[in-house]
Amino acid sequence: MSSTDHNEGPARDSPADAQAEPEKASGGISRRGMFGLFTATAALGVAGFAVASQVTGATSDPSSAGSRAGSGDLGAGNTAETDIAGSGIVEFDGLHQAGIATPAQSNIVLTSYDANQNASRSDLAATMKAWTVAARAMTSGGSAKGDPGISTGSRPANLTVTIGVGASLVQRLGAGRPAALADMPAFAGDQIDPARSDGDIVVQLCADDPLILAHAERVLTRLASDTLTLRWQEQGFGSTGARRDGRTGRNLMGQLDGTNNVTTSQLATSGPIWVDEAEPAWMTGGSYLVVRRIRMLLNTWEHESTTRQEHVIGRTKATGAPLGGKLESDFVDLEARNPDGSPTIPVDSHVRLSKPQSTGESMMRRGYSHRGAVLPDGTVDQGLLFLAYQKDPTTSFIPVQQRLSAHDALSAFTVTTGSAVFAILPGTSSHSDWLGSTLLA
Ligand code: HEM
Repeated sequence: MSSTDHNEGPARDSPADAQAEPEKASGGISRRGMFGLFTATAALGVAGFAVASQVTGATSDPSSAGSRAGSGDLGAGNTAETDIAGSGIVEFDGLHQAGIATPAQSNIVLTSYDANQNASRSDLAATMKAWTVAARAMTSGGSAKGDPGISTGSRPANLTVTIGVGASLVQRLGAGRPAALADMPAFAGDQIDPARSDGDIVVQLCADDPLILAHAERVLTRLASDTLTLRWQEQGFGSTGARRDGRTGRNLMGQLDGTNNVTTSQLATSGPIWVDEAEPAWMTGGSYLVVRRIRMLLNTWEHESTTRQEHVIGRTKATGAPLGGKLESDFVDLEARNPDGSPTIPVDSHVRLSKPQSTGESMMRRGYSHRGAVLPDGTVDQGLLFLAYQKDPTTSFIPVQQRLSAHDALSAFTVTTGSAVFAILPGTSSHSDWLGSTLLA
């Protein structure tokens, strides 16, 4: 993209929007077939705001054992350790970046940037240093350089800033592309819009106050205006009520989403989503983020009976209990049979097919609902901003998605329109460290 492009304005119009086809008629064949988700001022900020609780990212207190870090395909998870009234501060520095193992806040702004052609390695390093200083300030309630004053008087609301890099930037830097930073293969039924996919750098901003996110995004984008150009941006939300009460939130299909997920206790300092090998060294302590922008075909979905919807997922809609069970927390018994001998949890159900077949397939889902523009067919472009953190997408997201795209009954009600994989950088070891130092120093 041109270095003269500025960073204002919404993400580009989407060719996928322009080409959007009407939803499938109920009972009809899918178009895809039948089968187819900180600074000194920081101290001022901390002093200025009563901190009701602290959430420390991946280094968080393992006493949170069993709580959900995110909340599955939809982010609105367990909040027992999080003050969501707006005064919460999530520690910025740590072995891992905050915003991954942090219990999912109620709102997200996810932005992908491209590095300008004339941006040098030292320009990019300068941007990362400026971002790190600003992020430390904003997440602790202080003000950042060039603060536009959007959220003056607001509390940090558990703001987290999580930054990663795409394969395109890693290759440009000649850093040696990790095998785990794989290109996403094409999956049956995908309608991927390149303008809503990929990118050199990703910034995940999460908070329990959307205004805080708007402010943080403006600060970071302005600080990068000489080196980066905004490529795409997504905004998402969870259920604030569910987050307040510590319940699993519902997605826009009405399902309790996030029941079976990797827990914060599993994420404390090591675990299934962290890169712990020294290969490549710049990723040690990092993770990989898969982003899938999934449109839900809600007219079609809502036409189905509740019974049919429950068979598609494999769980009861009202309670979230697995079919054949009573409680949301009940074991998903894939061996259970109906009186006629048929599997209680259908062979093409989402929970059966998505269930990890080995620990290597584990991923932590941290998704959000999204709602956007009116499409040419008169429906609203809405669905799930599927986000999943993992140690290696080639052994987790990709094989799981291969099963889903081939057999998942849910595929008839969804279209994936955006896709990306990012290497999420390790955390900062101290207040003098900066995000990306392992890659750009
Ligand atoms: C619009 C798309 C999607 C919707 C509406 C959806 C919805 C759900 C629901 C309702 C559950 C059951 C509750 C839970 O355990 O969280 C679930 C489970 C799960 N989903 Fe999805 N999902 C979507 C896409 C995806 C994608 C793309 C993947 C990964 C490739 C995925 C992976 C999983 C996994 C791993 C589980 C837990 C299975 C288990 O261990 O029981 N989902 N999803």
